[in-house]
Amino acid sequence: MPAEGDAFKANLICAGILISGCSGSQSALNPAGDGAQQIARLFWWMAGGATLIWVIMIALSIYSLHLNPVAHHRQKSALFIIGGGAITPTIILTVLLIYGLNLLPALLARPSAEALRVEVQGYQWWWRVRYPNQSGETIELANEIRLPRGEPVEFLLTSKDVVHSFWVPSLGGKVDMIPGRTTHLTLHPVKTGRFRGVCAEYCGASHAYMNFTVDVVEKEEFDEWLSQQSADRDAPQKESVKNGEELFLLTGCGACHTIRGTEADGTIGPDLTHFGSRHSLGADMFPNTREYIQNWIAHVSALKPGVKMPEFRALTDEESQSLSQYLKQLK
Ligand code: CUA
Repeated sequence: MPAEGDAFKANLICAGILISGCSGSQSALNPAGDGAQQIARLFWWMAGGATLIWVIMIALSIYSLHLNPVAHHRQKSALFIIGGGAITPTIILTVLLIYGLNLLPALLARPSAEALRVEVQGYQWWWRVRYPNQSGETIELANEIRLPRGEPVEFLLTSKDVVHSFWVPSLGGKVDMIPGRTTHLTLHPVKTGRFRGVCAEYCGASHAYMNFTVDVVEKEEFDEWLSQQSADRDAPQKESVKNGEELFLLTGCGACHTIRGTEADGTIGPDLTHFGSRHSLGADMFPNTREYIQNWIAHVSALKPGVKMPEFRALTDEESQSLSQYLKQLK
């Protein structure tokens, strides 16, 4: 029958789409961190248990359809109802509760004092990231996090406006970021790679565009990256870069953004000292290319609804090209 064949194909496609959602850089079912592994294990036990109960219930329903309708023994029926309706669910839920509660101490444990600590502040709609560098100073980055593989890292989370929620499904659980409070989350990545993080609490118009990435790399690569990010921007050598920097300062960008090594020391928006080394723009919204940067400067509200940055439409084409070129070379 062609209709049945089509339905089978449609089911197969749906199953394929659902299963493909279990992999990728933002999947709690493809764990790459200690916490995420424990949460995934709990999920599979719960899913397995639920499937088993479902199969038993369906089997009992089919069996009951084939029974002759005769009067049942009163006591036996009562036992069956109490056993199936109260005792069995109580046992199953108690076992699951004990298993889930048992995971909590390890998931909530804070690492030793020597562990790396990263501060992340949530803003509508981006992430300010602060690292202590090798010389004990705090350096500021935005929207992209890097972690060494095989070490626990503690995140100190807070928000500067409304409640946000910090979640990297592949690495661990999610924790709310609350204005005026600092919450803690320990991530312990065990695999290298790029993982996607999201804001998991509705926080306004561009909530869905409040994302970030976590690159897990080997320790040596991490140290090298951190020392590179700790440095001021490279002093411009080429005339075009000098012009770009001058324009950046003249246009007033420095009132909101910092570029270490220049007079720009604004703290309202993201630090741009090594902006060109980031792979994305606008909190993991667009690839960090000159075209997107130029577009961002001139038409930011069309690209990200509700964004606080003003549009600079008055810039000539040449000026916005010069600015985007300058920003792109800030490696
Ligand atoms: Cu921040 Cu949703």
